[in-house]
Amino acid sequence: RLIILDFGSQYTQLIARRIRELHVFCEIHPYTHAPSLALTEDIRGIILSGSPCSVRDEGAPNPDLSHLLGHVPVLGVCYGAQLLAQQGGGSVLPATIREYGRARLAELDAASPLLADMHADSQVWMSHGDTIQALPAGYNIIASTPEVAVAAFQIAGQDTYGIQFHPEVTHSTEGKQLLRNFVVDICRCEQSWTPDHFVDSAVLALQNTIGPDEQVILGLSGGVDSSVAALLLHRAIGPRLHGIFVDNGLLRQDEFATVLKAYEGLGLNVTGVRAAPEFYAALEGLSDPEAKRKAIGRTFIEVFDREAQKVEGARWLAQGTIYPDVIESVSVHGSSVTIKSHHNVGGLPEKMNLKIVEPLRMLFKDEVREVGAALELPAEILNRHPFPGPGLGIRILGDITPEKVDLLQRADGVFINLLKEYGLYDKVWQAGAMLLPVQSVGVMGDERTYERVVALRAVTSVDGMTADWAHLPYEFLADVSNKIINQVRGINRVVYDISSKPPATIEWE
Ligand code: XMP
Repeated sequence: RLIILDFGSQYTQLIARRIRELHVFCEIHPYTHAPSLALTEDIRGIILSGSPCSVRDEGAPNPDLSHLLGHVPVLGVCYGAQLLAQQGGGSVLPATIREYGRARLAELDAASPLLADMHADSQVWMSHGDTIQALPAGYNIIASTPEVAVAAFQIAGQDTYGIQFHPEVTHSTEGKQLLRNFVVDICRCEQSWTPDHFVDSAVLALQNTIGPDEQVILGLSGGVDSSVAALLLHRAIGPRLHGIFVDNGLLRQDEFATVLKAYEGLGLNVTGVRAAPEFYAALEGLSDPEAKRKAIGRTFIEVFDREAQKVEGARWLAQGTIYPDVIESVSVHGSSVTIKSHHNVGGLPEKMNLKIVEPLRMLFKDEVREVGAALELPAEILNRHPFPGPGLGIRILGDITPEKVDLLQRADGVFINLLKEYGLYDKVWQAGAMLLPVQSVGVMGDERTYERVVALRAVTSVDGMTADWAHLPYEFLADVSNKIINQVRGINRVVYDISSKPPATIEWE
């Protein structure tokens, strides 16, 4: 195992992803975990992340690392490097010039194992306000840039390194080589973290965790995460996995039937529960977005719980939680540092008295997809856009009626099918139609119409945290507008949302 100690940098997860790309398993721990790290056999190396703090700040993260240095390979990145320098007795001062952006390594000690196979003019990415002014005795400079004398150092006689630049961002052109040098050659981590390897070990772990007569319940949504979790569990325990797929009446056109069929085709033991009327009843008269979300969430728990009670011997609730939901995020505000942990549980397990099993809790989203592909999840589920839990309930602005749902399902269906026909579906991150709470005037033949407006939304994004509106071709927009207005009676105007996030959000509610 490789451990990344997180000091709160926005890049910490990126380090982990780059290392996983080298097929090496790594875990992110908050820096507060450092003092208790026992150097057991399976810890092969430690990476210290960057941080928004300055090592000079009072109360900045400053865990004692002395019991680690010299015993296990350590690589400090940016703040991590400055911390190593400062703890060793060196000095870290504010940089006199801004050191942000591209720089080139001018001098480089090719004999250092950390920099093997890298080049003297290699581009690196800098992002720091402090600089290492003086290194402690025994710390040797192994790379410099014209502006930064201490761009990289090594402690003599140890596998302890510090680098001022960020190897994890793609702008550091040989950053991946550096990480490979550290992780593979210096730490001697095995490059065995592959989807197939994960599947084998996850299946084994599930079989060891879940008792021979115990039944497992899993809520399926048609999304990638819950579907991959289902396939893993199915491989581990077969029909003792009981999938529950609820039709809340707010799914996309034909989605309930299509997805249920796909699950059945995979041999999964899944019960489809048609509960639309219950959801519509709970939503009646509600137009506040949060009130709608709550009503949908509450009804889901009622329906799911009722269905789950029918499974005799149920002991476990499986969830499709993934790594970004699990990582204890370190948030640093000024000099005060707080640690908060994420919980993606939602009140169900307490109510049902079940134990939780989360087979994907160590995977990033792209790894979930790779595991899904290894498990032969059909492309139609594997490449599906994200879809919010409250579904069309938050894409119908204002109150929800079955008629509005039907209208939106048809408009959204035209949009999504046409994106697929034009080969655009896989080029956008998420897309959908919103039904607006306004009517507008139009003409059809000789008649004046007064009908509804649909807004189309398509975005490009990496993780949904930020997003840009997708620059869809005009011919496509013309075609989709035409088809919606001609085919969906009740809609006479289509608009395209050209807002980015931030300041807008992806959903309208
Ligand atoms: P926003 O609208 O916040 O959306 O930019 C970011 C991502 O989150 C999804 N989303 C939700 N997912 N329940 C969910 O399960 C919700 O209440 C919810 N609201 C937004 C949204 O579809 C996008 O992928």
